[in-house]
Amino acid sequence: MWTRPRSLDDCYNILDLRTLARRRLPGPIFEYLDGSAETENTAQRNTSAFDDEKLIPKCLVDVTSVSTSTRILGQELAWPVFCAPTGGSRFFHPDGELAVARAAAKSGTLYSLSTMSTYSLEDVAAVSSSPKMFQLYIFKDREVTRELIERCKRSRYTALCITVDCAVAGKRERDLRSGFAAPLRLSASFIGSFSLHPGWLLGQAAKGKLSMANFANSGASSFVAAAKLLNPSLVWKDVREMIELWGGPFAIKGILSTDDARRAVDIGATAVIVSNHGGRQLDGAAASIEVLPKIAKAVGDQVDVILDGGIRRGSHVLKALARGAKACSIGRPYLFGLSAGGEAGVTKALEILRTELIRAMQLSGCTDVRNIDESIVRKF
Ligand SMILES: Cc1cc2nc3c(=O)[nH]c(=O)nc-3n(C[C@H](O)[C@H](O)[C@H](O)COP(=O)(O)O)c2cc1C
Repeated sequence: MWTRPRSLDDCYNILDLRTLARRRLPGPIFEYLDGSAETENTAQRNTSAFDDEKLIPKCLVDVTSVSTSTRILGQELAWPVFCAPTGGSRFFHPDGELAVARAAAKSGTLYSLSTMSTYSLEDVAAVSSSPKMFQLYIFKDREVTRELIERCKRSRYTALCITVDCAVAGKRERDLRSGFAAPLRLSASFIGSFSLHPGWLLGQAAKGKLSMANFANSGASSFVAAAKLLNPSLVWKDVREMIELWGGPFAIKGILSTDDARRAVDIGATAVIVSNHGGRQLDGAAASIEVLPKIAKAVGDQVDVILDGGIRRGSHVLKALARGAKACSIGRPYLFGLSAGGEAGVTKALEILRTELIRAMQLSGCTDVRNIDESIVRKF
């Protein structure tokens, strides 16, 4: 008989972690995590489109041992899934980004830290010596961006990433309804949902004021102030400048067309992340897995192609690799884990996906993630 998970031990898949996260978080925080833009079609399709890809296993292959290691952005990873940048992780657990960075390091994978993080990039670097990518927003004030790049160099981040699907904020209706949007709307139900979660309140109170830690010394340490720094006039030459300034591995996140993927290659990117921001920006945008095959065919031999969005199962990762991705990144799956149980919860989320991927590989007759190709998937 299925019972609702009450602890991490009861969680067998990512949706169980989501159920537990929902119990642990005040309603508006859960809706901010789980929600996406407008009618949420793109977010749903990100996952459901994987169902259109059917696996065709190869039989009688010796799958006693399988290799999951891969190399992206100049770094060796133990397996081809890493943590995408997500702003405000302390809303989900007092240890926020520190917990995620530690869990990613233990799992042998990369962590991308968001500009909008609630622990500073230096604090995160101090808890993990594993590969780390910093996700940069290019601000109206170029000096702010240049300084962030210098700080990343000093803290030995291994790659930079720029997110290009955020010219303006997406219309997130769950947040508008709950009141967890700028400006905050403190209705009786908003306050009530927090008072029903004293554990969450105590955990946050113990850590002090929650702020945009990368801007602690500037006037933009509140979420509203930092969001106002976003730059809707950004164009390709601005990104090229940042790539040159950084001089190391550089990913462009938010690519959905082959034309843009080619432009990313032309300006010197090392990786393109095929992504629609988990459906949180442009609702109606294509699902990542739908556009992946063409992009991988167009530029896969020149840059690392990474699929982001919708992954909830190890078999989704397998399908993405078969369609040409070199690795996948996840957002909500590890945030559900973080909300459900801090660092142990993130570890659980990563372990669920890693073991599901290995099982799916073995059942499909695949022994090495580097050799997976289109012969094991078909669209009907
Ligand atoms: C709560 C939350 C905050 C996010 N913040 C950022 C961010 O600051 N920068 C960014 O590039 N993407 C951000 N994203 C998008 C993720 O990087 C990623 O693209 C998305 O979560 C992938 O979809 P998935 O959640 O289905 O795995 C955020 C996503 C979530 C759920």
